[in-house]
Amino acid sequence: METVVNDIRMYWREAGRGAPVVFIHGFPFHSGLWSDQLDRLPRRWRWIAPDLRGFGGTRAEAGEEGLSMEAHAEDLVDLLDALEIQRAVICGLSMGGYVAFALWRAHADRVRALVLCSTRAAADTDDARRARYGLAARIRREGAAAVAEVMLPTLLSEQTRRERPEVVQRVREMIEATPRATLVAALMAMAERPDSTPLLPTIDVPTLVLRGSEDAIIPAAEAERMAEEIPDARLRVIDGAGHVPNLEQPAEFDRELVLFLEAIEGE
Ligand code: MLT
Repeated sequence: METVVNDIRMYWREAGRGAPVVFIHGFPFHSGLWSDQLDRLPRRWRWIAPDLRGFGGTRAEAGEEGLSMEAHAEDLVDLLDALEIQRAVICGLSMGGYVAFALWRAHADRVRALVLCSTRAAADTDDARRARYGLAARIRREGAAAVAEVMLPTLLSEQTRRERPEVVQRVREMIEATPRATLVAALMAMAERPDSTPLLPTIDVPTLVLRGSEDAIIPAAEAERMAEEIPDARLRVIDGAGHVPNLEQPAEFDRELVLFLEAIEGE
């Protein structure tokens, strides 16, 4: 489906009816990241998975500043308005979590609850920033294949890479489908994103922090600290998954998500 939000046509997928849950994909993916969830999750919630500006079917002139976390958050608010949704559960994976923080910072009243999966509140360290600039330079020369080469070994757990070639292939296809300009602009935007750590104690909605036990990108201690600093947060660990638990261990991911949504239903 497509709707005009701000200056672009935003593409999104949806399934089910009921209380809305918005899935925000990570970098460098698109809404197809959530296709197992949209196919299999119970129909009593309304699952909405947009392609962020520049990704998947949502094409945009990806200027170096156009893909900030704040810009994505404003697009999502416009999408919620277009769908006449006042508040939704926001589930962000990795970069999607950074967008969820930007949404909380500017529009907390639109957030019913948060699911923060494989993500962190802190801004980039200097080393992480330098690595992003280096990767952006390689992408300009070599295209998306450079991202697949750098990221695939860290995105998925060793078990997934060994036993689930179809998942590796899906991830590679999503990476390679992302336009070069988007990849570069998104790396710049992530490098410049603000520190969201001061926001954590202000999050006064129920929150689920999810991490894969084998996540090579977000250390366990960082996820634990994030869950401790958010007043009403619970942390769940998905065994055998790396950075993308919803693809790597979808049954377990879905189970944790549904348990959380059921638990907050009466609150
Ligand atoms: C993601 O999965 O969205 C990225 O790993 C986020 C990042 O590079 O910080």
